[in-house]
Amino acid sequence: MGYPSFCLKLFLFITCLVLLLFFLMEYYRSPIVNTGNLTNLTILLWHWPFGPSYSLEGDVCWDRYRIHGCRLVDRRSLYPSADLVVFHHRELMMGQERLPLHLPRERHQKWVWLSLESPDNSGDLKPFNNVFNWTMSYRRDADFTIPYGKLLPKDRDTGNYSSTEDIIPKNKSPLACWVVSHYNSQQKRSLVYNSLKESIKVEVYGQLEGRVLAPSNLLPTISRCYFYLAFENSIAKDYITEKLWRNAYQAGAVPVVLGPPPEDYMAVAPPNSFIHIEDFPTTKELGNYLSKLIEDKEKYARYFAWRSSYQVKVYTDWRERLCSICPQYHTRPAQKVYRDLEAWVRLRH
Ligand SMILES: *[C@@H]1O[C@H](CO)[C@@H](O)[C@H](O)[C@H]1NC(C)=O
Ligand SMILES: *[C@@H]1O[C@H](CO)[C@@H](O)[C@H](O)[C@H]1NC(C)=O
Ligand SMILES: *[C@@H]1O[C@H](CO)[C@@H](O)[C@H](O)[C@H]1NC(C)=O
Ligand SMILES: *[C@@H]1O[C@H](CO)[C@@H](O)[C@H](O)[C@H]1NC(C)=O
Repeated sequence: MGYPSFCLKLFLFITCLVLLLFFLMEYYRSPIVNTGNLTNLTILLWHWPFGPSYSLEGDVCWDRYRIHGCRLVDRRSLYPSADLVVFHHRELMMGQERLPLHLPRERHQKWVWLSLESPDNSGDLKPFNNVFNWTMSYRRDADFTIPYGKLLPKDRDTGNYSSTEDIIPKNKSPLACWVVSHYNSQQKRSLVYNSLKESIKVEVYGQLEGRVLAPSNLLPTISRCYFYLAFENSIAKDYITEKLWRNAYQAGAVPVVLGPPPEDYMAVAPPNSFIHIEDFPTTKELGNYLSKLIEDKEKYARYFAWRSSYQVKVYTDWRERLCSICPQYHTRPAQKVYRDLEAWVRLRH
């Protein structure tokens, strides 16, 4: 009599154990399977940078950039539900837009300061102290770094590695080229140009010489130059613009750079892919180095070695920059205030 009842109890016990395990597994599994698109992070862009707006129809971040759980909006009525509110600095600085300081902020809501301008073009920042929780700029130490460009490893699946011979554009003739739209004789880049042209030939395009290049002509023209003077108009920490990424790297000319110190370039660009003016005591020595370099085909080709494994990505769409917030959101400090934004922006090295 005791024997079957023991079996029954054992059977029931094991069944219960299995069921319990099953439910526990389901309980722990479901949130993991669903994270990412159970809830959306809502990013409200308070005003569009420089005026023109772009479509935010559908699930923009997913449809265009394959980023999940990111709801990008520009309707101010959605303010109360926004996890982040992004303010582009320029319109605030010009007084065209105002911060909604009268609106209450949800405890977790973050206000984000967005700018791609150098400190010289950022005006007075004091009115913006103690307002923002996060920053979004080209700076590597911003909460969200949005560089003008970067290098991505080439798609290895295609197995299409080209030899260095193939990746250096052919038919090069002008030694160095420079495209300048706003020439100012007092800027450091103008002083360096004026001194450099004493020792090597520099072909200048843009308003200065009345040789404005059509956008479709820009890269083909530069690709025929051995060197491109990627001279920034402002010298500031991490301020490396499309002059490097697009005009030089994408066109296929070796960049001669003037901007932040060599360390800043080394942090984002491949070694031996650019020539930094600070590595030469005088512009005459720089000029001599460039002239000799094109005589040594192998040495010149080494400046292109990175192109067999990397490709250049240039960022132009504000939507892509804003969507990039979402995958990084949870790793950023939950509590933060830029008490002295002015000091942060003007930080040197
Ligand atoms: C949730 O994610 C899955 C796969 O990651 C995707 O197929 C689905 O469309 C997403 N749903 C929503 C509402 O975003
Ligand atoms: C997340 O946002 C996208 C884009 O606005 C929307 O299509 C999607 O339905 C939202 N998903 C959830 C779960 O709210
Ligand atoms: C390989 O790369 C070269 C040069 O970039 C290109 O012309 C060619 O079409 C590519 N071949 C394949 C199979 O993708
Ligand atoms: C965001 O900044 C405001 C203004 O300084 C501050 O009152 C608030 O506590 C900050 N919020 C978070 C989540 O850090």
